[in-house]
Amino acid sequence: MAPTYEFSTNQTNSSPKDFQEFDERKTGVKGLVDSGISKIPEFFVHHQEISLKASDQAVPCDLQVPVIDLQSIDKDEASYKQIVQEVLEASVSWGVFQVVNHGVVKDELENVIEKVKEFHEGNKEVKEKLYNRDQSNKVRFLSNLSHLQSGAATWRDTLVCVFDGTLDPTQIPLVCRETIMKYKEGISRVVEILYELLSVALGLPPDYMKARNYDYTKPMFMHYYPPCPEPELTIGVRMHTDPTFITVLLQDDLGGLQVLHDGYLVDVTPVPGALVVNIGDLLKCFSNDKLKSTEHHVLASKRGPRISVATCITPALDSEKPFGPLKLLLSDENPPLHQEFLIPDYVKTYLSKEPNNSVLSYYKI
Ligand code: OGA
Ligand code: NI
Repeated sequence: MAPTYEFSTNQTNSSPKDFQEFDERKTGVKGLVDSGISKIPEFFVHHQEISLKASDQAVPCDLQVPVIDLQSIDKDEASYKQIVQEVLEASVSWGVFQVVNHGVVKDELENVIEKVKEFHEGNKEVKEKLYNRDQSNKVRFLSNLSHLQSGAATWRDTLVCVFDGTLDPTQIPLVCRETIMKYKEGISRVVEILYELLSVALGLPPDYMKARNYDYTKPMFMHYYPPCPEPELTIGVRMHTDPTFITVLLQDDLGGLQVLHDGYLVDVTPVPGALVVNIGDLLKCFSNDKLKSTEHHVLASKRGPRISVATCITPALDSEKPFGPLKLLLSDENPPLHQEFLIPDYVKTYLSKEPNNSVLSYYKI
């Protein structure tokens, strides 16, 4: 029997004042670690997720996040169909998969990790200047992406770059600028391939998603999870589904990312050269829940730092076109499961909701 996990929202020890003081220091979790603490501040303690992590129920060894090899995508029709089938099966049953031989070479991926690490471990004044929570800034550095709405803080710092076609690259810290700009181009090509495979998997013309510009905005989140003296008491990022269309994630070789699958917490084991693809809530909605957006979290660890880069792929955030279940996929037997909504409203809802809820629940029919 799969274990069951309780997600209570009853986290009581948050102290907005302590968090505010921490935030005003602008040095993030890394600043705390550098100061030599051996105990974590109370506002980082997660009573909610501790019981979840404490479960030592063994995960059946055949439960592994699918790894899809794109090497033979152009070889012949049979190979192409096979890959489409793998993408479909992984997206329906897991909502997450890894891809290898996707076109961005391993050296480049390793360089991205290295440069992101250099930023987080680099010049303190540069970081301090960038530290802010103003969503209108396309490039910013901060710890804990959302304010403490409820619950405790999480053990990670993030550099954010919102690629929406207007970002001025000179705003990106010099230490990682060139690498990030190049990586963004590489990811755009990977997304083109993924959009084609996902379109075909859903029975649509190959260029369907690309032609609709569902990859217009690409906020890139460059995370740094410092080593934690009391990892059992806190979390790198709490359980969530991604609000995106898809997310393409690069992780280093430390591990710590887990997905909730059939009631089990399954490790997304680092594979050299791989990118992790998460189906986001928007694609789940678009597919009328045929594809799954899976819950995942990142553990805090004594080992670290852990680096990851999440590129979130979404339609234009100011799009005025209604978004919802694709009509082509609907029928009397398959009625829409969510109402249509406008992306700007969806974003507003996302920013104001409790962190444990998926935004989609607000639009459920
Ligand atoms: C995210 C996320 C996982 C990771 O940014 O949404 O789930 O490994 N990140 O950093
Ligand atoms: Ni995520």
